[in-house]
Amino acid sequence: MTKEAYTLTSPDGSKSMELPVREGTVGPAVVDIAKLYKEQGIFTYDPGFVATGSCDSKITYIDGEQGILMYRGYPVEQLAEHSSFIEVCYLLLYGDLPNKQQLDRFATSITRHTMLNEGMLRFFNGFRYDAHPMAMLSAVVGSMSAYYHDTMDINNPEARDVFAHRILAKLPTIAAAAFKKSVGQPFMYPRNDLGFSENLLHMLFAVPAEPYEIDSVAAQALDLLFILHADHEQNCSTSTVRMAGSSGANPYSAIAAGVSALWGPAHGGANEAVLRMLEQIGNAGNIKKFIAKAKDKDDPFRLMGFGHRVYKNFDPRATIIREMCHKVLKQLGHTNSPLFELALELEQVALKDPYFIDKNLYPNVDFYSGIIYRALGIPTSMFTVMFAIGRTVGWVAHWQEMITDPNAKISRPRQLYTGPAQRDYVPIAKR
Ligand code: CMC
Repeated sequence: MTKEAYTLTSPDGSKSMELPVREGTVGPAVVDIAKLYKEQGIFTYDPGFVATGSCDSKITYIDGEQGILMYRGYPVEQLAEHSSFIEVCYLLLYGDLPNKQQLDRFATSITRHTMLNEGMLRFFNGFRYDAHPMAMLSAVVGSMSAYYHDTMDINNPEARDVFAHRILAKLPTIAAAAFKKSVGQPFMYPRNDLGFSENLLHMLFAVPAEPYEIDSVAAQALDLLFILHADHEQNCSTSTVRMAGSSGANPYSAIAAGVSALWGPAHGGANEAVLRMLEQIGNAGNIKKFIAKAKDKDDPFRLMGFGHRVYKNFDPRATIIREMCHKVLKQLGHTNSPLFELALELEQVALKDPYFIDKNLYPNVDFYSGIIYRALGIPTSMFTVMFAIGRTVGWVAHWQEMITDPNAKISRPRQLYTGPAQRDYVPIAKR
């Protein structure tokens, strides 16, 4: 909806232009600058897209001041309490909560797509024994375009839907295969009699030599973590998926690009970095020293799991996960978790420190998630892979939205060129 307009006038007053303002359902309006360069010959400049909206989206809404996160209008707290990950996947992909029949059909389809082509399984033999699971995940997801040609026509809605189900279903299988490779155990095939998170636990921890009993507490905890990680509007990896997909690249390649973007420690790699940081801190006596390091401008160290581009008050996902930590550790019998105690103490010290208060730095989703993964027996190098399993549905929903948006264009930002002006080539003998 267009409401009022901003008037932009050039410094010498010779040119002026009305910039339309568009309002969404909720949240700040946007100034539409699409015609600015054509009409005024000037670009806007916003490194890191701090104040720039890149698209229209109906999927997820965040209010960073109020700590609100909603998927398709439903507050994440309500979904965390009442829903399941598979139902949230349906909601994100199709826009509304499913009825019973729709949910059953969707869950069955996801279950039936969990197996990998056997050729893909053989890739894992080629990786080094110590390959990082995220390296294997991005490589194998990228390779899916070499196997599933029938779902690569981006203009075919049915092909897009089969792609969506395939990638959601196969991501956990690829993740588990990467884990089995890293521990030198045989790969475990998926089981169609199990739910999404139960099946993942089976593929991660079962071995052919003996029966494996799935812990329902662990499965519930995973399901909840996946709900909380499922989408987060135009974050770095999702924007990467949209950008890669905007060229018309096949969807598997676009998702592989997203996996790679997620890996960085400023994004999904933070959960792994938090655990490594807590281990480095070691005990409460060292907290002061690490807080001082985080505040020191000359030290690259940052308090991992703290701060967020959008949340400037609290991250609602962190609040839920902190509560969940208490519950899961107790239910799994980890009554004494030194890492959790250390994290709680570190959070308290940071929250009282003027540096963190002034800069609005609060614990984010990654601060506590690793503690739960650790309690479930998942190794630190797999934490970001777990994030990727949850976030895949968000990537797919955004890719679908972009592909079907009649106004979508190839993503192609401009720049402020600061290199040399034109100069003449100098032959090598004269340099
Ligand atoms: N520790 C110490 N100082 C920090 C931290 C931190 N974790 N985060 C931000 N700051 C400071 C930063 O130095 C800057 O100070 P100044 O204004 O004096 O230059 C100020 O706070 C603003 O930071 P920024 O880097 O300009 O903010 P940003 O919005 O570009 O970055 C962030 C957001 C999440 C990358 C950053 O807070 C960070 O690096 N946090 C640690 C990594 C982390 O936990 N990432 C997970 C994010 S949540 C999950 C996800 O999205 O994947």
